[in-house]
Amino acid sequence: MQTDFLVIGSGIAGLTYALKVAEACPDQTVTILTKTQSDETNTKYAQGGIAGVMDFDKDSFAKHIEDTLIAGDGLCNKKIVEIVVKEGVERIEEIIEWGANFDKESDGDFKLGKEGGHSESRILHHKDVTGKEMERALLEAIGQKPNIKLLNHCFVVDIITQHHLGYLITKSTVDVECYGVYVLNLGTNKVEKILAKITMLASGGNGQVYRSTTNPAIATGDGVAMVYRAKGRIENMEFIQFHPTALYETGIRGHNFLITEAVRGDGGILRNHAGEAFMERYDERKDLAPRDIVARAIDNEMKIAGTEHVFLDCRHFSKEKFVEHFPNIYEKCLSIGIDISKNLIPVTPAAHYSCGGIKTDEYGRTSIKNLYAAGECASTGLHGANRLASNSLLEAMVFAHRAYTDSVKDFNFRKNEPFGGNLVGDWKTDGTNAPKEMILITQSVKELKLLMSDYVGIVRNNERLNRAMKRLDLLYVETEALYQKTVVSPQLCELRNMITVAYLIVKSAEFRHESRGLHFNTDYPGKLPMIQNIIL
Ligand code: FAD
Ligand code: SIN
Repeated sequence: MQTDFLVIGSGIAGLTYALKVAEACPDQTVTILTKTQSDETNTKYAQGGIAGVMDFDKDSFAKHIEDTLIAGDGLCNKKIVEIVVKEGVERIEEIIEWGANFDKESDGDFKLGKEGGHSESRILHHKDVTGKEMERALLEAIGQKPNIKLLNHCFVVDIITQHHLGYLITKSTVDVECYGVYVLNLGTNKVEKILAKITMLASGGNGQVYRSTTNPAIATGDGVAMVYRAKGRIENMEFIQFHPTALYETGIRGHNFLITEAVRGDGGILRNHAGEAFMERYDERKDLAPRDIVARAIDNEMKIAGTEHVFLDCRHFSKEKFVEHFPNIYEKCLSIGIDISKNLIPVTPAAHYSCGGIKTDEYGRTSIKNLYAAGECASTGLHGANRLASNSLLEAMVFAHRAYTDSVKDFNFRKNEPFGGNLVGDWKTDGTNAPKEMILITQSVKELKLLMSDYVGIVRNNERLNRAMKRLDLLYVETEALYQKTVVSPQLCELRNMITVAYLIVKSAEFRHESRGLHFNTDYPGKLPMIQNIIL
């Protein structure tokens, strides 16, 4: 198969990019691949909303920029922060035109929420299901574009480069070029080759590397792992954001329900098992301090008390107002016997967001030619060492737009050239057999999640990182051997990708000899004067 533009991922980044390219190039084909159903994305689960300066009487670009820089703890790229904050407003207006609804006051102004680290109320939201609403609007708009083909259940295994023509590619090879992808079509169970002139990777996050995560099962870091295998640049992987308040449910691990930070923005108070509102002991911004600080404080309280959770207190809220803003959370809590007007909500930190990823420039270009990346899989320089709440949806739209402008220009320049990679062979299955025992995969996944949660979580130290690396090494060797002799499956590819991502997280964490933002190492509690990005 050949397509002019290939998009991997149907979350906010992939869909925004595809829509724009399809509009600008109506005679060209745009193909979107997604590994399960089109709406099963991190995007769908976004609750709190999207940050944007909408009320220029109270708020300003300067304040949003400053808040983002403070949260990023010295590591944000200021130019990128300015781009995202300033261009973000136009992108929000655009998605509203495409049909997304955000809550409004009776006078027609947007209802603006507040979250940790924001000095002003600036979060547009659709009740507590903002991502679902945005995903709906985007998918509806996609459905109206005749030149877009959206293919579900197509698992991308690897990107195709000169490596597949037999050339030796190393980290120092210049001009590595992307020709398209090998994709496992789950309808036919065959690996197919798709050639593309431009490829956009919008494959989302990697929360599944940890035992408890707010991310759905699709978030296994496939895009980052593929680019690393193709010798592209990966940046700042040590900065994994743990959301302070995932709902704690006995026995539920893997995809934890989120209690949005907007609940604390509206006045929710964190309490420990003694009933104490402990955040004032950790930060003067109390419950609305940036996420790294709140998650570490909760982690500390849990360790002191020997418990697996703390509590979020919403009993003082007007029940009517709570239900109006957070109907989904209200219903979820009620379904497990928690009436938020009478009971405390048990909450625990869970892996939530990857601040690092595939290194991109200000137009979403990766270090590999013809390959762009946007959304959570990319590292644009916006988040630095810690992402400010609700800046992710904004970043995804801004960089999907920037990548669209750049890639369409590039495409028009060379549209009459033949597809690269025409000589690339079909996927080889020689010497591979159907897996005999899935336990070889499922047990390794469990081990991986456990070691990452126990050794590479909110608080780290050198010995834990060292142990994690040794165990990862063993998992890597075993899994590569299995991969060489087994017919590919999503489970095997995801395990392989998660091991690569875990390796990148641990390696980057080992390189950072300081504590900054989301990376806290008790052996290096201070900050180094030299600020640096870790690039692998
Ligand atoms: P995703 O939306 O995750 O989409 C990834 C896509 O890639 C999927 O279609 C998937 O199938 C596809 N894919 C992945 N690997 C492959 C493969 N191998 N082959 C084929 N397809 C593949 N951010 C905010 O700004 N505000 C919020 O309020 C907010 N709330 C959040 C709440 C939760 C519970 C979570 C989990 C995240 C939240 N975030 C929030 C973060 C934000 O939702 C995500 O960072 C963002 O939606 C990521 O969008 P994306 O387009 O990059 O990827
Ligand atoms: C939340 O709603 O608390 C999540 C917001 C985010 O991750 O940006």
